[in-house]
Amino acid sequence: MTWDPGQYLKFGGHRLRPALDLLSRIPFEHPSTVIDLGCGAGNVTAVLKARWPEAHLIGLDNSPQMLVQARLENPDIEWREADLLDWRPDTPVDVLFSNAVLHWIDEAHETLLPRLLAGVAEDGVLAIQMPRNFGEPSHTSLYDAVRAGPWCERLAPMIRDEPTKSAQFYYDLLRPLSRSLDIWETQYVQVIEGEHPVADFVKGSWLKPFLDALNEPERSALEDDYRKRVKAAYQPGSDGRTLFPFRRLFILAER
Ligand SMILES: C[S@@+](CC[C@H](N)C(=O)[O-])C[C@H]1O[C@@H](n2cnc3c(N)ncnc32)[C@H](O)[C@@H]1O
Repeated sequence: MTWDPGQYLKFGGHRLRPALDLLSRIPFEHPSTVIDLGCGAGNVTAVLKARWPEAHLIGLDNSPQMLVQARLENPDIEWREADLLDWRPDTPVDVLFSNAVLHWIDEAHETLLPRLLAGVAEDGVLAIQMPRNFGEPSHTSLYDAVRAGPWCERLAPMIRDEPTKSAQFYYDLLRPLSRSLDIWETQYVQVIEGEHPVADFVKGSWLKPFLDALNEPERSALEDDYRKRVKAAYQPGSDGRTLFPFRRLFILAER
């Protein structure tokens, strides 16, 4: 998928908050190595840098577009282009941090998460946040629009199973491998503004690959259909703002 950092960062505040909540739970005071897996445009990596200025910090991502933005904003941080599908750390890492990334990876979490945890140093942590909002109208409306249009045959194979599993799944998977394991979920009631705020939010992530797969005029037709559906599902309140509840799952595994 090609990322558009500008569109993604339009809702940067809402997207940053879960990363800060995850970070606040990491007990490590002086890690020597920290890697931000799927660092994107690097805004969260910069916060990791501020918390652990002495650590050797690397921001890693497979999107050249995101990394251009990251390098521009924070030239003093080490950025690396790599694909998490075949990435392994050179040496065990004290803090492996991953905010809003692992649900994008096409490797089953049964193998991906234990593999990442194996790259964590003894007494280190694997800290993960993933959206778990895939059954909500923000996402199901997209699949409805995909199935309803002349593009259905081409786009339907792109519809993925829910990538983020239940807390029980991750508990059973990681408990035998962890010294301590903390898993929690939070539903953020995001207050967002604009005529199509939920569609604009999703356009920065889940909607984009579907739009990229079409040419005009189908591209705009799919986007319009999605916008109508999602607007009907999330009506603005009396002050004109829209509440967009968004559930996220957090995992903190200590080795
Ligand atoms: C939703 S963004 C999150 C960015 C950042 N972590 C943040 O919290 O703002 C997801 C990021 O994961 C990256 N990503 C997705 N699949 C990847 C893979 N296989 N290897 C490395 N990075 C990947 C994308 O390029 C994108 O920058």
